[in-house]
Amino acid sequence: MNFPENLPLTVSLLAITFFAYTHAATFDIVNQCNYTVWAAASPGGGRRLDQGQSWSISIAPGTTQARIWGRTNCTFDANGRCQCETGDCNGLLECQGFGRPPNTLAEFALNQPNNMDFFDISIVDGFNIPMELSPTDNGCRRVICNGPIVEQCPDELHSPGGCNNPCTVFNINEYCCTEGPGTCGPTTFSRFFKDRCPDTYSYPLDDQTSLFTCSAGTNYRVVFCP
Ligand SMILES: *[C@@H]1O[C@H](CO)[C@@H](O)[C@H](O)[C@H]1NC(C)=O
Ligand SMILES: *[C@@H]1O[C@H](CO)[C@@H](O)[C@H](O)[C@H]1NC(C)=O
Repeated sequence: MNFPENLPLTVSLLAITFFAYTHAATFDIVNQCNYTVWAAASPGGGRRLDQGQSWSISIAPGTTQARIWGRTNCTFDANGRCQCETGDCNGLLECQGFGRPPNTLAEFALNQPNNMDFFDISIVDGFNIPMELSPTDNGCRRVICNGPIVEQCPDELHSPGGCNNPCTVFNINEYCCTEGPGTCGPTTFSRFFKDRCPDTYSYPLDDQTSLFTCSAGTNYRVVFCP
């Protein structure tokens, strides 16, 4: 899904012209949990959301590897540095990178070839908060992950405030697929997640049943605790 790094100059200029006339996508992030969630986005930063509050961000067309997640049980020191039980991003309220597992992820690659957005909910970095991701226009399907994953988390994967992905815990190719396609597949652990969240990206090559598309230019809504 990534663009090649060495585009010929003319192609780069065309791409810039194209993006200049394409609108950013809007993401409405809503906390329906009965606890505070410190929402986070890369790119986009972060914000505290009490129960019922929402936050709207825009993400530039052509952005790949965008993700939105929630952090739980954050505390702040006198210097404003935060420490969150799940999803922490180096102590920053406004994240400048990804969060620490376990964290349920909404992932996006916008305005890809054929004018498509790609999106999914992933538990490849574990699960902390139930999530729903809905395209708000263009009639595309929503994805949801709200099964009892924390409650039923296998002992080996249990983590304060969430349930880890086995790759985080064991760090071997069987779970991480670092050696690429053909070297890994679904496992007992990935099936544990898939059974409870069938729409969800449950191991690193789980594209077939969990990567969705919508026309570029779509806006999205992300709900914590749908
Ligand atoms: C939050 O919701 C859960 C599940 O519905 C419930 O068990 C819990 O008591 C609620 N907590 C508060 C603080 O309202
Ligand atoms: C926050 O931490 C408290 C105390 O450890 C725990 O009871 C509670 O479930 C946690 N809240 C969330 C949202 O994880």
